[in-house]
Amino acid sequence: MAEARLHDPQTLYRHWEHEQWNPWAIDLATDRAQWRNGLSAEDKGLVAWALASLMVAEERITTQFAGLVMAADSEEEATFLATQQVDEARHMQFYARVQAEVIAEPETIAVHVARSRAQLGEPFRAIFDGTLTSAHDRLAADPRDAAAKVDFVTTYHLVIESTLGLTAFQFITRYLRDQGVLPGFVEGYGRVHHDEQRHIGYGVWFLRESVARDPELGDRVRQTLRKLLPAVAGALAPPDREGTDWEALGASAEEIRGFALGGLSRRLHVVGVPLDTL
Ligand SMILES: [Fe+2]
Ligand SMILES: [Fe+2]
Repeated sequence: MAEARLHDPQTLYRHWEHEQWNPWAIDLATDRAQWRNGLSAEDKGLVAWALASLMVAEERITTQFAGLVMAADSEEEATFLATQQVDEARHMQFYARVQAEVIAEPETIAVHVARSRAQLGEPFRAIFDGTLTSAHDRLAADPRDAAAKVDFVTTYHLVIESTLGLTAFQFITRYLRDQGVLPGFVEGYGRVHHDEQRHIGYGVWFLRESVARDPELGDRVRQTLRKLLPAVAGALAPPDREGTDWEALGASAEEIRGFALGGLSRRLHVVGVPLDTL
């Protein structure tokens, strides 16, 4: 499996040097025209919800990250983590540009985030304002705390970037490609996704090294996952959907949950904390 060939932070940093992109080089003119005249009201509502989730998620993961840079254990790891911080800021800027040029009008990022927040449900807030922020606060207070670093990377890289992020990417881009809409957004989201693969590669590498060095840290991974997984299932559902049997963006809840859990299970296997030991 692909994740079994993990790259170390120095290799991931060197990949980053070859994989730069500019959020302003992407043409959003077709997207803007289609948004105004080319999407049904229901589709528009779902796509607006998906874009609002991405806007708020990237703002959170850009501003709740510096503690991990401070917690680096080598110069190579600090270098890679500095590139991830730049990537997240670039992603936030791209989504803010989509808000400014396609969905709404030019505004500060804070205004786009506030408007987007109004569309999101409670599970989303629990993950991004609750668990992520408190894990970041604990790590920033003591960057040498190995357990706090494992808790943070489990929350950030394993749950948010891989389980939530890759699942959102799979179903949002499949839907938009099938409908033939928002080509500029899909192009930029593809670049974001490529960066995210590098970030997740780091997270899985770091957790595997940590658990191999100190098996008790594996219990920290289990504890964080047990606490967060119910909110993850909730955050994948549009806020107006009732129960566990819903459809969104052309996919059933079962298909979306299956994709999310399948990916998490493969990564946990590589980390050394199989899903069935949670
Ligand atoms: Fe990102
Ligand atoms: Fe990321």
